Amino acid sequence: MTSKKTIFSGIKPSGDLTIGNYIGAISQWVTMQDEYNCIFSVVDYHAITVKQNPTDLRRRILDITKIYLASGINSKKSIIFQQSAVPAHTELAWVLNCCGAYMADLKKMTQFKDKAGDKQDSVSVGLFDYPVLMAADIILYDTQIVPVGDDQKQHVELARDIAKRFNNQYGPVFTIPEAMVKKEGARIMSLNDPSKKMAKSDENPAGAIALLDEPEIARKKIMKAVTDSGSEIIYDQKNKPALANLLTIHSSLSGESIKSLEKKFTGKGYGDFKKELAEVVAVFLIDFQKKFNKISDVDAKKILEKGRKQATKIAEEKMGKVRGVVGVR
Ligand code: TYM
Repeated sequence: MTSKKTIFSGIKPSGDLTIGNYIGAISQWVTMQDEYNCIFSVVDYHAITVKQNPTDLRRRILDITKIYLASGINSKKSIIFQQSAVPAHTELAWVLNCCGAYMADLKKMTQFKDKAGDKQDSVSVGLFDYPVLMAADIILYDTQIVPVGDDQKQHVELARDIAKRFNNQYGPVFTIPEAMVKKEGARIMSLNDPSKKMAKSDENPAGAIALLDEPEIARKKIMKAVTDSGSEIIYDQKNKPALANLLTIHSSLSGESIKSLEKKFTGKGYGDFKKELAEVVAVFLIDFQKKFNKISDVDAKKILEKGRKQATKIAEEKMGKVRGVVGVR
């Protein structure tokens, strides 16, 4: 390892990745590859906190690997691997369950409360405990920075607390990580409800644009996206949350600033703006999918295997220290 800082991040293969995942997380990772030691995981053990079809899960693991590569994650610069191929993640999660994580912390997690809703007693223990596995993912690699979307900030905070508690008890074993969240695009909202996050698990596909959606379908989703009252194209998060979201998507994919978009659409209405955004999204998807389709399953598997070896080396060294201080094998 060099003196560069280490970043770790991951995506769980629990549904079709959306432009929200791309804008909030992956696009940020791509720009960090030269400056940091980068480790990106397909965090499959996180996906099984809710029921998965094994065939679909296997497919999605490879698809996410290809999505990383098509987005510009370079396996020569970054480690790309499948979480379940490195058993140290689940091993450390158990240790942290016992030495660092408290029930009270987990009960505070808003994502658990949202996901479990009024079924808290009948969801899996894994869904409740999942932030501890996420803490293990992060601190196993002496990660300093965790680039994520806004919804994962609380989980990274928890990873910090768990690492600090472990260190207080056993000595300075772990580096304390920090979340890095983009200023713009950290929370892309649903196209049909700007109060809800765009999510890969959304039951209503009209609210989300998947990275592998047919470009023509994506175009129609944009044209049908809800808008706010009024007609002016201005960024106003409070009074025009739907338009603010669409402006953010445009700006993130086209690279044009929101200020310059407001100027360009002065005197024009929502229809004109949506037409241009639909084109921006379609062009982005066509280019992205061209790159995606060029990567074979065999290539994706080879890259995961290379990543498994690289990640295992780092993770096993850390687990050796953990086992030693805790007093197990
Ligand atoms: P996941 O799989 O739900 O999402 C992956 C990444 O995408 C970001 N994201 C979004 N960003 C902007 N707008 C949205 N609508 C949007 N939806 C999702 C998420 O914030 C995330 O960065 N627990 C994690 C996966 C994980 C992880 C880790 C992340 C497991 N271990 C260690 C970082 C480090 C999760 O479920 O993300």
